[in-house]
Amino acid sequence: MQSLSTAFRQCLLPLLCLLAPLAQAQSSAPWWKHAVFYELYPRSFADSNGDGVGDLNGIRSKLGYLHDLGIDAIWISPCFPSPQKDFGYDVSNYVDIDPMYGTLADFDRMRSEADAQHIRIILDFVLNHTSDQHPWFLNSRSARDSSKRDWYIWRDGKAGGAPPNNWISDFGGSAWTFDEKTRQFYYHYFEIAQPDLNWRNPEVRKAMLDVTRFWYARGVAGFRLDAVDTLYEDPALHDNPVKPGSQTTGDPDMTNLYNDKLPENHEVLRDLRTIADQHNAVLIGETWTTDVAELKEYYGAHDDELQLPMDFLFMTVDSLSAPKFRAQIASIENSGEWPVFVMSNHDRTRAYSRYGDGVHNDDIAKLLAAMYLTLRGTPIMYYGEEIGMENNDPKRKEDVIDPFGLPNWPENKGRDGERTPMQWSEAPNADFTTAKPWLPVPASYKSHNVADERKQPNSVLNFYKQLLALRHTNPALLEGDYVPVAENDPNVIAYLRRAGGHTVLVALNLSNAAVEFRPQLEPLQLNSAVPLLTTSSKRSTSAGVLALGPYSVYIGELPPAQ
Ligand code: NOJ
Repeated sequence: MQSLSTAFRQCLLPLLCLLAPLAQAQSSAPWWKHAVFYELYPRSFADSNGDGVGDLNGIRSKLGYLHDLGIDAIWISPCFPSPQKDFGYDVSNYVDIDPMYGTLADFDRMRSEADAQHIRIILDFVLNHTSDQHPWFLNSRSARDSSKRDWYIWRDGKAGGAPPNNWISDFGGSAWTFDEKTRQFYYHYFEIAQPDLNWRNPEVRKAMLDVTRFWYARGVAGFRLDAVDTLYEDPALHDNPVKPGSQTTGDPDMTNLYNDKLPENHEVLRDLRTIADQHNAVLIGETWTTDVAELKEYYGAHDDELQLPMDFLFMTVDSLSAPKFRAQIASIENSGEWPVFVMSNHDRTRAYSRYGDGVHNDDIAKLLAAMYLTLRGTPIMYYGEEIGMENNDPKRKEDVIDPFGLPNWPENKGRDGERTPMQWSEAPNADFTTAKPWLPVPASYKSHNVADERKQPNSVLNFYKQLLALRHTNPALLEGDYVPVAENDPNVIAYLRRAGGHTVLVALNLSNAAVEFRPQLEPLQLNSAVPLLTTSSKRSTSAGVLALGPYSVYIGELPPAQ
């Protein structure tokens, strides 16, 4: 693979990168089907003003890097004014930029430079709740008869001062907080400082839909919709059914029957979609579903809700197991919907740490990349995944700053570990900032950083670049169907992607042993395959057998079957 890889990088890769926009322009598919999305956490990407926290000018300075990597759209986690109680997911003004990240003028400049790099901007729309410092909530809590009282969920407590019902906050404790001034409880599915909006109030609905219009007018290409499962609650406030056992916060376990996934949520999604369609925009949903049947509902009965409800089902796979990953791929493929693949995000331990075995971590990172970037569907990367960034979980409770980490300690150490600064070089603080970074940089920045990996032919970064260039130009990977191969193999996931006379075979060895894989293709066809991208130096094809090294990747173009 080494010589092929070198040739690929030196000759083919630059050519493929030039051809990529052309290949996409010729397709009739909506842009978001071919796009590779990249989530970045603005606090942690690049700090331009030396305050230890990332910002929009920092992001702007890295657009060239993202373009060269092969990214088509960036989803920026919330960058709006916020008291930062939940690091931006507590918004106090939806139509401005937090001064910590810059200004609206900085946003416009970033957006226009992103245009020049063919990178679209997706913003994170937190629509379930606001910050308790949002003027709407300040007004709402000021008096029972205030003009915005009904913009939030206020209720009397039960006799004896108990909360209105047994609902538990995702961050621990009751989902109701008593407000001394007006002597009622307000409802918050999440943190105390994140009161839920009352979506049954038409004024709320209008104000929030107008927020999306504001940003479309500024050129954004869509939204990632935060917590779309929880917009509505049962108006009668029935208690949720309690299950045996307790949560890591010590609260009783329960089924969120009356405050999660209510059918009314879908009305809002349809409204948002109508506006998105007027702007050729995409809606990505934070849709925590237990299976694909639930996920399917978010596309809408008439494909009129979310184009990209996030399928987090890969994140629930607890080990590097071919049958387990294959089952998840099969379920979304069989649903008839357009798949969305996510390996890591700002709420979950990075895939590098989840699946790494401590010995083959980089090979495993490449293997996972080869899987979710060659499947039929839209991938959403997480910043740093392309350089093999690992989690850096706090070692002591006093080091935790995530409000989710504190009540769940030590069973769940919170989300700080997956939100650490991007590792740009081996300079101090990984060249993310000249000040003390808001979260400590993992020790791995010495070996895993952009500057060094650029120079190493076999780095995770260079593998991602080759893979993304291939994905953007190969007709079968762009448009092809998905045909599973050898569905019972215990170690190898393999599939064909086929379009317009092109057939690509992807074979991934998820085991730590070398395997002789028999894909049940015509031997002649396999033997004449042209490797496009592989990671195994011991790879060979003969007599219908593909030899694959531990955790290795084979992507090859098959000649037409005879
Ligand atoms: C989901 C976001 O991804 C998470 O980070 C946040 O804490 C909750 N929504 C509350 O907004």
